[in-house]
Amino acid sequence: MSNILCIGAGYVGGPTMAMIAKNCPEHSVTVVDINQERIERWNSNDLPIFEPGLLEVVQQTRGKNLFFHTDIAGAIAEADIIFVSVNTPTKKFGEGAGKAADMQYWEKTSRDILQNSRKPEVIVVEKSTLPVRTAEAMARILESGNSSTRFSVVSNPEFLAEGTAIQDLANPDRVLIGGEENENGHKAAKTVAELYAHWVPRERILLTSVWSSELSKLVANAMLAQRISSVNSISALCERTEADITEVSRAIGMDTRIGAKFLQASVGFGGSCFRKDILHLSYLCEYYGLPEVADYWASVVRINEWQTDRFFQNILHELFNTLAGKTITMLGFAFKQDTGDTRDSPAIPLCEKLVGENARVRIHDPKALENARIELKNLKGDVSFVEDVYEAADGAHALALVTQWDEYRELDYEKIHQAMAEPAFIFDGRNHLDHDKLYEIGFNVFPLGKSPLKHI
Ligand code: UDX
Ligand code: ADP
Repeated sequence: MSNILCIGAGYVGGPTMAMIAKNCPEHSVTVVDINQERIERWNSNDLPIFEPGLLEVVQQTRGKNLFFHTDIAGAIAEADIIFVSVNTPTKKFGEGAGKAADMQYWEKTSRDILQNSRKPEVIVVEKSTLPVRTAEAMARILESGNSSTRFSVVSNPEFLAEGTAIQDLANPDRVLIGGEENENGHKAAKTVAELYAHWVPRERILLTSVWSSELSKLVANAMLAQRISSVNSISALCERTEADITEVSRAIGMDTRIGAKFLQASVGFGGSCFRKDILHLSYLCEYYGLPEVADYWASVVRINEWQTDRFFQNILHELFNTLAGKTITMLGFAFKQDTGDTRDSPAIPLCEKLVGENARVRIHDPKALENARIELKNLKGDVSFVEDVYEAADGAHALALVTQWDEYRELDYEKIHQAMAEPAFIFDGRNHLDHDKLYEIGFNVFPLGKSPLKHI
């Protein structure tokens, strides 16, 4: 029986530890965080993150072998295995600003571990996505004191996607574990592998070097994002040539070498990982003297920003080149469906651009209004957050769908149309709605990557 600890009770740490606790009942799993309010919510039924199926898993284990609290030092003292899942946002200042990862939270955690560990052997597991060679830096910090603990650093990046975290954790494509190239490192990697082997078939548990593991995580995210930017770039060409991006995506996705997933055109990808990880990958290539490679990956982010801007320009252009005083209702603010997470959502720059034109922006989202308010707290302009979608659309000149929530397919668009200003416009940033039906109701419909359906 081991004491497993996770430092950082966020989108990655919370769900992952709940899944380990559920599948490894003989171990005790503790999750700590500096954020007291977050921990209080983990101890309630109003969890700090919305994730389908998460509450059920937490309820099965909480108080039995899953515990949440804020005594970080005390928890480290008792821990045999420490997962580090604190945030590593893009650096906003100094060298590498806007590209490199800000490592201050992570370094503080390394020092907390060094200072407070008491067990003779402790395995430290990098869970959050970290720059390549972080494990080496962490090992150097951990070896710097006179601690009697012997530390091993293991890289075990998390591949779960928000909105499907529980199924991704329950049935992962693979679990990646990178260990140091020595006897101690191999032993530590095997110990971590044994945890996952409680529920993941052994052939899906990959043991690699630490560096390969760290880099694979960045590259997986970069390759996924690259597919979206590729499709989004072609969506622009489709709009000029009367091809249909949905048909093109389907046709290329049926090639088994390409595969059908992640070919959905959108207003732009968001989330806490893609942009951050690609910028970091690009920074790394620059650092190692590979400017061509750096530029190749940076272009994935450039196309993404361009796609969001293109969506905005289309709204501006179609609404007769003036948005001043017009009401635009945003359907969705989360970066994708089934999450309340708004980090790096394309809704943020879209909203800023609309407000920049003096539009009145009404935001609706079934789960993300609380985070949307936080994201936009410094934005000066006419922005409101509306819980009822019909109220949000009342009197609006245009609807802009940003997030593909299922419920947006079920709305009474006749009723919405009647309450909107004429001519009524709908810009579908996800190709999520029934465009022919909307056109029949009387909307001017602007999908992505296909011809618009216009009455005027
Ligand atoms: C991603 C990775 O998928 C996951 O493996 C990693 O651990 C964390 O980063 P996440 O950001 O939670 O997960 O969501 P994901 O489903 O990958 O979507 C990212 C963004 O891409 C969303 O904004 C989504 O709407 C967008 N997207 C996705 C598209 O625009 N088109 C697609 O075809 C797929
Ligand atoms: P992710 O999506 O990677 O899980 P989050 O931002 O959701 O990122 O979660 C990271 C968590 O780490 C936050 O709840 C934050 O309060 C916590 N955190 C940051 N620094 C520390 C620290 N030094 N000790 C403990 N928790 C920390």
